Amino acid sequence: MRLPDGPQTPPFLQLLHWISNPLGFLESCSQRYGDPFSAHLGPLDPIIFISDPGAIREIFTTDSEQFDAGKGNGILQPLLGDHSLILLDGDRHQRQRRLLMPPFHGDRMRTYSQLICQITEQVTSQWQIGKPFSARTSMQEITLRVILQAVFGLHEGQRYEQLRQLMSTMLNSVSSPLSSSLLFFRALQRDFGAWSPWGRFLRQRHQVDQLIYEEIQERRQQLDLSRTDILSLLMSAQDEAGQPMNDVELRDELMTLLIAGHETTASALTWALYWVHQLPDVQAKLRAELDQSGYDPQNPAALSATARLPYLSAVCQETLRIYPVAMLSLPRIAKSPLQLMGYEFSPGTPIVACIYLTHHRQDLYPQPDQFRPERFLERQFSAYEYLPFGGGVRRCIGLALAQMEMKLVLATILSRYELALVGKRPVRPVRRGVTLAPRSGNWLVATQQRPQQAAVSV
Ligand code: HEM
Repeated sequence: MRLPDGPQTPPFLQLLHWISNPLGFLESCSQRYGDPFSAHLGPLDPIIFISDPGAIREIFTTDSEQFDAGKGNGILQPLLGDHSLILLDGDRHQRQRRLLMPPFHGDRMRTYSQLICQITEQVTSQWQIGKPFSARTSMQEITLRVILQAVFGLHEGQRYEQLRQLMSTMLNSVSSPLSSSLLFFRALQRDFGAWSPWGRFLRQRHQVDQLIYEEIQERRQQLDLSRTDILSLLMSAQDEAGQPMNDVELRDELMTLLIAGHETTASALTWALYWVHQLPDVQAKLRAELDQSGYDPQNPAALSATARLPYLSAVCQETLRIYPVAMLSLPRIAKSPLQLMGYEFSPGTPIVACIYLTHHRQDLYPQPDQFRPERFLERQFSAYEYLPFGGGVRRCIGLALAQMEMKLVLATILSRYELALVGKRPVRPVRRGVTLAPRSGNWLVATQQRPQQAAVSV
């Protein structure tokens, strides 16, 4: 089998480059070796990176027959557990996906629109005029509260507060560019006590697990059929043999939704705030559209209209194009010999659709490093040219929630505050766990509160 070209440095060094400077790694490989290229990011087979929309279409449209994906995600096992949707393949994956999808359907999402605006109001009311704050921390607070309510139906009380704080601490402990290495190198996953990095992570995870199991236990004892949160739906779901999910399966799916559902959306929102305040023209157009739209956080119909605003949608699309939070799709592992882009790959070869490089193709996105929402108003991109949520049978199940949340949080913030960037230093993308995020820091400041158009009850 002849593999596409790729770096010849020792795998350890390739992995180190990928961890410490993911975009530099992707760009240098793509410039030197073209599309596709191969890279050794671990002891296993080299991974094939592709950014050709035709080849991505072939993968996404033959996904379940030709590929496994779950077994390529072992790196996430310590966080998500063995039964997580992201780690499953074949029939088990299909079955779990069928159980999880309905609560994330677009129509269903609309029931969360007011909640999203209320939570945004709550969190941003802590901002002080003239005092720089961390956009990341605020956005993460919003998305975590949204997901805790949508998934657990939890919105107050001791368990909610504890989960909120523990989840943030636990994720921060494996998220900085340096501590992300904990996930990539098994050798670092050693418990040397509560002060060692891995030991600390394990203890925090144990505490989170305890809270989740307590919540499951309590729900089993006090069955309430009127509840519509995702945990309740999962608890009442049964497989073909009439078996409900056991506690460990439930825990793993909940953890998956909690982690996949708030980290990603928080990074996307932080980027959106950055771009809107970095580019005065973008901000002016967006504000003009919002001011004319009759945004009203208490009226679900008006919020549906806000979520359809063309320029607001384009700003969110461009945000996820220029620095996609997920730089890569989940790796697809060929189940049988596979011909793609003139190469023949043997079974077991991992292939990823490189979302970042596809979104930076000159032929699709001229001047790809410029943030220009208009490109989404001027033409339509296919699902293989623009793919921030992946595709095929593994396409992100939280897509509708994430898109709606991005638009409503932005609309709420812009209607309530004037904000500005602190200083002129551009905000650079950095690795955060397995994702790409804006660097942290207090680089945003509220300069003035805008007169409220409509009161929001919290
Ligand atoms: C801006 C926010 C988000 C981005 C950019 C994003 C991106 C992605 C991507 C690229 C994938 C892999 C798809 C593939 O390989 O084809 C994925 C999978 C997934 N996402 Fe998201 N996601 C976001 C928000 C969410 C939310 C809000 C949830 C749930 C509450 C969620 C839950 C999941 C799950 C469970 C999977 C695995 C699907 C499977 O394996 O079948 N994501 N996401």
